[in-house]
This record gives sequence, structure tokens and C-alpha cells, in this order.
Amino acid sequence: MPIRLRLTLWYCLIFGLLLVTVTSSIYISHRTSHYKEIDRSLTSVSTHFKEEVEEEIRGGKPLEQIRLSAGEFTLSGVYTVLKDANGKKIVSNLESNQLPHSPFADISTMTKDTLHTVTDPVLGRYRMLIQPIRINQQMMGYIQSEISLQQIDMSLNRLGWLIVGFTLIGIVLAALVGWFLAKKALSRVELISDTAKAIAASQGFHQRVMHEGPKDELGELAETFNRMLESLENAYVSQKRFIADASHELRAPLTTIRGNLDILQKMKGLPAAEKEEILSDIRNEAVRMSKMVADLLSLARADAGQEVRKQIADLTKIAKEVETEIQAWKTEVSIKSRLEKKVATWGDPDLLKQLLLILVENAVRYTRAGGTVTLAISGDKENATVKVIDTGIGIDSKDLPHIFDRFYRSEAARAHSPDGTGLGLSIAKWIVDQHGGSFVVTSTPGRGTEFLVNFPKVQ
Ligand SMILES: Nc1ncnc2c1ncn2[C@@H]1O[C@H](COP(=O)(O)OP(=O)(O)OP(=O)(O)O)[C@@H](O)[C@H]1O
Ligand SMILES: [Mg+2]
Repeated sequence: MPIRLRLTLWYCLIFGLLLVTVTSSIYISHRTSHYKEIDRSLTSVSTHFKEEVEEEIRGGKPLEQIRLSAGEFTLSGVYTVLKDANGKKIVSNLESNQLPHSPFADISTMTKDTLHTVTDPVLGRYRMLIQPIRINQQMMGYIQSEISLQQIDMSLNRLGWLIVGFTLIGIVLAALVGWFLAKKALSRVELISDTAKAIAASQGFHQRVMHEGPKDELGELAETFNRMLESLENAYVSQKRFIADASHELRAPLTTIRGNLDILQKMKGLPAAEKEEILSDIRNEAVRMSKMVADLLSLARADAGQEVRKQIADLTKIAKEVETEIQAWKTEVSIKSRLEKKVATWGDPDLLKQLLLILVENAVRYTRAGGTVTLAISGDKENATVKVIDTGIGIDSKDLPHIFDRFYRSEAARAHSPDGTGLGLSIAKWIVDQHGGSFVVTSTPGRGTEFLVNFPKVQ
């Protein structure tokens, strides 16, 4: 069942219940007070006559000679008749031929006034009051008073139908209003759902929900939805750019390899030294490509949300391994280390080693012959700190915000070292993020650079 219909039904139900409760309680209280009023006037007229009769009997007048002084009581619509103990009519206040009805109980044993409703098939309902007249414990006769309920029954009936009619009209109006309100409230939800459908059909993540309503829950939903679209759009655009950049970067070494192979194939009689040079070129490009593909794979795994296994990782030990590995590098840069003992963090030792290698490799690559690269590991109460300091070409302040971007390489870096793809620091950044660490990079162009990484320390 659509929400709109459900909301309308609920609205109708609640409104209807409220309406029925209010109108029925009005009707019931009205009805009760009317019937009470009837009983009161019946009792008042009847009692008046009864007192009159009792007074006359006490004065010594025989029952048969008593007459009723009708007076104003003829106007009340109450028919009153005086009967003797055997039920024989003595006198009545109105000359009505419709009445009297016979009393509903044995009069001779009756001690109290008794009220009762009588239904006549022709004349409708009557209210009847019997008041026994007892003087000195002796049953003399009784006053029987009656009043027709026909008028009041009819008017109450009319009122009842009126109330039913108004209640029904009220419920129908409530349904219309509910339907309209639900449509208004849900129109914004529809807007969001339409936008989502349009995006699903076209992948146009640039679309937004054109929402101009109040800042209520639905406004919040629309805004959250737009924010989600923005981050999806960013992810989508950067993914596309990444693929474009990756294919572009992979094409360059492939073109070089193919060109060199063509030369080898066409020029069979090349001198051995030249041949050797071309082959070494091909090998270098192939190595560069393998490294790039390996880097791309690391990033793809990172994007896919690769799990990082966490264990106590001794950064000092990892740095020593890196040191050993560096010794095999052919470089004219002197590499030093300052390693405090047993500085550990919580993480994956292989990834942390990869991080140190990326940083040290950059430092060596962007430092001229004769320069120095220092790898330092230290710890204080909270942090385990890795520092890689070089005396190299430095990073210009305009490049600094971009060095962690994928495929970003500064002009100076390209000029200094044409090899390199600009992926190293992207991977480094992912590793640091995964370990809850943070980077601080300080650099002076022409003087050197310091990469500092703080990790939470494990005691
Ligand atoms: N120690 C450093 N000194 C000067 N510039 C640096 C240093 N480390 C990084 N950079 C700058 O940051 C850029 C990005 O570094 P990154 O390691 O990501 O890529 P790369 O070294 O160019 O290529 P590769 O992916 O092969 O490592 C570099 O191109 C360079 O401009
Ligand atoms: Mg690098």
C-alpha cells in the first residue's frame, strides 16, 4: 500500500474517532438531559396533584368526590388521572380519550413512586409515573401520570441523523485534506527518488535534488542526498581521471619499447655496442612499467578496501631491514640513520616497510650526488615517529599541496629525474592513513626536505 494512502487512512481514522467521540458524547448528554427534564416535569405535576388529593382526603372528603384543579398544569402535556385502589378512574386533568394505559405492576403492594417507559404500537413511547396514595397505611388509590415521548424521540432522532451526516462529511473532508497534505509532504520524497532514478539511468552524478523547502527532516534528507551525490561525483571523476592517467602513463614506456624493437628488427647490422644500449633501454622501460603496474595494483587494492592486518610492528627493526636493502643501491648520496631502540606501533610490518622504502627512495632520488639522507626513528610517550630528511632539491610551496595526488610530479622532479610515475606518495599516504598516522612535510627548495610521520606508539 503506498505511503500516501496509508497516511491518509491513518489521518481519517484518527480524525474520525475523534469526531465520533465528540459528537456521540454531545448526543448522549443532550439526550440524557432531555429525558431527565421530562421525568422532572412529570414528577412535579403528579406530585402537585397527589398532595392536593391527600389534603382533601385528610379533610374528610370521600375519594369519589375529589376533583383536580387543572390550572396551569394542563399546559405541561402531562396527563394525570386519579384512580381508586381497584384501578377505577375517578377524575383526570385532561379529557384525553387515548389514555390511560393500565399500570404496569400490582398497585396494591406498591409503596413507592414508580417510573416506567411504555411503548404503544400506535402512539409511540410514553413515560408513566405511578404514585400510590396511602393514608394511615391504607391504600386509598393512586395518581397515574403520563407524558408522550413522541416529540422528543423525533427531535432526538433528527439530531442523531444530523450528527451522523456531519460526521460522515467531516470524515470525507479529512480524507481530502489528508490526501492533499500527504501529497505535499511526499512531493519532496518523490523529487529525491526521481533524481535517484535519473542518475541510475544516466550515471550523471552532477545532478542534484532541486529542493527549496523548509529545513525539516525531508529538507535534511535532500541535503544529505546532495552531499552524498557530491562525494560520489568526486569519487567517480577521480576514478575516471585515474584510469585515463594510468593508461597514458603505461603508453609511454610501451611506445619506447616498441620503437626500440622496431629499430632492432629493421637494422640487423647494428654495432654490438649500440645494440646493447637499445636492449638496456628496453630493459629499463620494462622495469619502470613493472614498478608502475605493481604500484597501480597496490592502489587498486587500497581502493577496494584491502584489510590491513594489525600486529605489534617494531619500527626500529623495520628501519634496519630497510637499511640493509638500501646498501645494494648504487647511489652517490650518503645515507645515515638514527634509530632509537624498540619503537613500535600497531600495524602491518610489510606495509610499513614499503612506506619507509618509498620515503627513502624519494629522498635519495631527489638529492644530488654528495648530499645526505637521514632515516630516523624515535618515540616519546604517545608517538612513534619516522623522519626521512634529505639535503636535496626540495619541494616548491606550490607543489606541496599536490605531492600526495596520484601521478603528480613537480616540474623540478621531472627535470631532475625523468623516471618515476608519481604514485609512491599516494601509496605512502594510504599506508599512513590505515595506521592512524599523520604526515608533516617541511621543505626548502634547493636546501632539502623532511618527511615526518607520527604513529600511535605501542609500549
Ligand atoms: N624527498 C623529496 N624531495 C623533493 N621532492 C619530493 C620528495 N619526495 C617527493 N617529492 C615530490 O613529490 C612528488 C611525488 O612523489 P612520488 O613518490 O609520489 O612520485 P615520484 O617519486 O615522482 O614517482 P614514483 O611513483 O616512482 O615514486 C615527486 O614527483 C616530487 O615532486
Ligand atoms: Mg617516489
